[in-house]
Amino acid sequence: MAKTKTIFYCGSCGASSPKWLGKCPTCGEFNTYAEEALCGPSKGPDYRGFAGTKISSLEDIDIKNEERLKTGLDEIDRVFGGGIVKGSLALLGGEPGVGKSTLALDIADRVANAYGTVLYVSGEESLEQIKLRADRCSIHSKNLKLVIETGVEKITAIAEKEKPVLMVIDSIQTVYKEDITSLAGTVGQVKESCAHLMYAAKRSGVPVIIIGHVTKDGNIAGPKMLEHMVDAVMYFEAEQYYQFKVLRAVKNRFGSTNEIGIFEMTGSGIKEVKSPSKMLLDNLKEDKKGSAIVTVLEGTRPLLLEIQALSARRNFGMPQRTVTGIDYNRFLLTLAILEKSLNLHLENHDIFANVAGGIKVVETGADLGVAAAIYSSFKEAPVSMKTVFIGELSLDGEVRPVQFMEARVAEAERLGFERCVIPSRSANVKTAMEIKKTGNVEELKAII
Ligand SMILES: Nc1ncnc2c1ncn2[C@@H]1O[C@H](COP(=O)(O)OP(=O)(O)OP(=O)(O)O)[C@@H](O)[C@H]1O
Ligand SMILES: [Mg+2]
Repeated sequence: MAKTKTIFYCGSCGASSPKWLGKCPTCGEFNTYAEEALCGPSKGPDYRGFAGTKISSLEDIDIKNEERLKTGLDEIDRVFGGGIVKGSLALLGGEPGVGKSTLALDIADRVANAYGTVLYVSGEESLEQIKLRADRCSIHSKNLKLVIETGVEKITAIAEKEKPVLMVIDSIQTVYKEDITSLAGTVGQVKESCAHLMYAAKRSGVPVIIIGHVTKDGNIAGPKMLEHMVDAVMYFEAEQYYQFKVLRAVKNRFGSTNEIGIFEMTGSGIKEVKSPSKMLLDNLKEDKKGSAIVTVLEGTRPLLLEIQALSARRNFGMPQRTVTGIDYNRFLLTLAILEKSLNLHLENHDIFANVAGGIKVVETGADLGVAAAIYSSFKEAPVSMKTVFIGELSLDGEVRPVQFMEARVAEAERLGFERCVIPSRSANVKTAMEIKKTGNVEELKAII
């Protein structure tokens, strides 16, 4: 009997090799190669079907208005770049149990209500399970059609017959292509099934959302290659924002990747969180020692956060520096600036800093607030919880302007803050709040 030919794929980047390799020469990962049966020479789907073989110059190409399906939920539409583009293939990734199916079902229901038939294809759950979830989340759209199917050719055949406006595949790891002999979920299957769905989406103009599981080390299980093939990659995450779930675009051929959508998982499904700052800062009334409010930008949206710092005297040993949610090197830099500019003796103090709510601050606009929180804790001087600090620190202690000052100040005003400390070099901003301009971190002495 003829021996089945096999090929080895790297589980991390999708590179292939005729023999097993301990270390992948493409991505450098160890022990990622797995053997899969090689089926006859596959030339892959014929993409010329939608691209056309004729040569065109740019001015000959007419652009039909890029049509987008809007779910009506701002948090989702924004991450998709203003709605789901027709004919696009989006990958929705996330760790097990984070709520991918719930989010996808919610999107499907909203699109079904607004535009017509939506096909929700599941290879993971029974119809009863989906119905239970739908009942719990009050999803009743008559246009939402459910199918339990894992053969990708059958799925596209059903789609051709039903002509949905949107198709959801839950999940890409369960579907298989008939002419590939390896098991569903293997690199070859995932790649080929994805290519098949991409072809179907482009040819028919029906957008497809495929759900993909993320492995423990953060990759979408199966090849990273999948991320290159699709038009958009969204991650649904929970760990970073403890009480929130965040939908984050890491790739989008039709929109910005800076946008995030914030949700809450409740007993009755996914709810959007329109004003996360309000939730995070709700109970802040009294002035506090070692706390300062800052405004950071998440995409184009300003987010107000509470930075907490604790400085505690240490009589022997090396002082500790511990941070959560703030960049460690930037924190050390801020300490050095404070020591030098305000003549603080921090060398015999343990200093801890934390961002309330478990949010990670990645931009420099929070520098002044971090400095204010540390100074306040060190001096045991309370900071008004009605004041917002905005500004970046340079090494000589200067408070430097940051982008989108107007949006940051406007959000603070909207949330009822009374005073904003901003860099003196910032342009004037129109606001009813009291604006305190500061040129150097030294001036914190007078502000706190
Ligand atoms: N009765 C319930 N009340 C509140 N929340 C619930 C309830 N049932 C499920 N959940 C939430 O829904 C989440 C699971 O949602 P979902 O099945 O959509 O996740 P998933 O990412 O699709 O998971 P999987 O990886 O298993 O496919 C749970 O982690 C839980 O937080
Ligand atoms: Mg699921």
